[in-house]
Amino acid sequence: MQEGGYYISKKTDDICQDVCGPASRAALSMSRLRCILRGFDHKALLLLFVGLPLFIFGIYLHGQKITYFLRPLWESPPKPFNIIPHYYHENVSMENLCKLHGWGIRDTPRRVFDAVLFSNEVDILEIRWNELHPFVSEFVLLESNSTFTGQVKPLFFAQTEKKFKFVESRLTYGVVGGRFVKGENPFVEESYTRECSGSANKDSRINEDDLLIMSDVDEIPSGHTINLLRWSWEASVHRYKPGKTRYAHFRQTDDLLADSGWHCSFCFRRISEFVFKMKAYSHVDRVRFSYYLKPSRIQDVICRGADLLTCYQRSIHSRRSLLRWSHSQFLLSCSSSRASTSKCRQVHVPSSGNCLRESG
Ligand SMILES: *[C@@H]1O[C@H](CO)[C@@H](O)[C@H](O)[C@H]1NC(C)=O
Ligand SMILES: *[C@@H]1O[C@H](CO)[C@@H](O)[C@H](O)[C@H]1NC(C)=O
Repeated sequence: MQEGGYYISKKTDDICQDVCGPASRAALSMSRLRCILRGFDHKALLLLFVGLPLFIFGIYLHGQKITYFLRPLWESPPKPFNIIPHYYHENVSMENLCKLHGWGIRDTPRRVFDAVLFSNEVDILEIRWNELHPFVSEFVLLESNSTFTGQVKPLFFAQTEKKFKFVESRLTYGVVGGRFVKGENPFVEESYTRECSGSANKDSRINEDDLLIMSDVDEIPSGHTINLLRWSWEASVHRYKPGKTRYAHFRQTDDLLADSGWHCSFCFRRISEFVFKMKAYSHVDRVRFSYYLKPSRIQDVICRGADLLTCYQRSIHSRRSLLRWSHSQFLLSCSSSRASTSKCRQVHVPSSGNCLRESG
């Protein structure tokens, strides 16, 4: 070993001597380069050829986290919301509840229309409709035979419609034919599908001034909140205007009613449903590596209570409309909601000892 080390250093000495000795021009400049490199110590070279590629690979792996971390640098914060405290107690009269919010009470409640785009969230839909059905006049559900990512999908609602007998008389069910454009940004298909729900709403015989809830299935307002809104004069989710109201799924107002519902993007009973949603929804770019979809990894992530896709956008997502969705509250309120507790336990994000999902 000693010998080898000596040999190498001797050799490099030779090269440098060549520079000073007679040699062709090309060989000369080559040798100069080697000389300069020799000037660096070995640690610096190691850093350059090993450290740098590792660093770049690290950025590739965690680029998303880094960009979200740096987000404040390239995106100014959204305008702050005016957060309205939200009061509720089951034994306080509607008149007093309205007064507490500074609103007047109507003689009769407005009609409420609940319009959702459905993909595969059968269990969460059951919870939603159980929570809302005492206060909703008409349910509108739109389902496409294409995922937002352009894959053919079964009409899951049509397959499980039997479960939903309890809303049958108040249901407008619309099917959208997907456009199946290859290689397109998923948000294009998403906005196309959302656009279609305008006509579904018309089919549902909605009238001027009816309240319209437009949300994803997994954004569930509390029933008592909707009840308050339909009785009060001033507040509204969205008051329908013929010819004007189109599907809107973004920030509508600066007012935000605190603690008025839940948002649970990944509340599923089966691992296969997690995989389906991860592949189907518009944020498919967050599924950056195929191992993200491995059932054992998904199960592990659920049990650790970690984020499936490292969704740093959740807090931004959740402040989209008048109703403020609270993710964590879903866990708390699940048991007190009208939906059966066992159903809740099957799908809600686990708190303790209940994190195993059905495989398949
Ligand atoms: C509301 O009133 C009923 C009847 O007086 C009572 O049984 C119930 O416990 C009350 N609810 C709460 C949350 O206090
Ligand atoms: C999707 O639905 C549309 C309209 O119902 C239909 O015309 C089309 O054939 C369907 N496509 C597939 C792949 O099922």
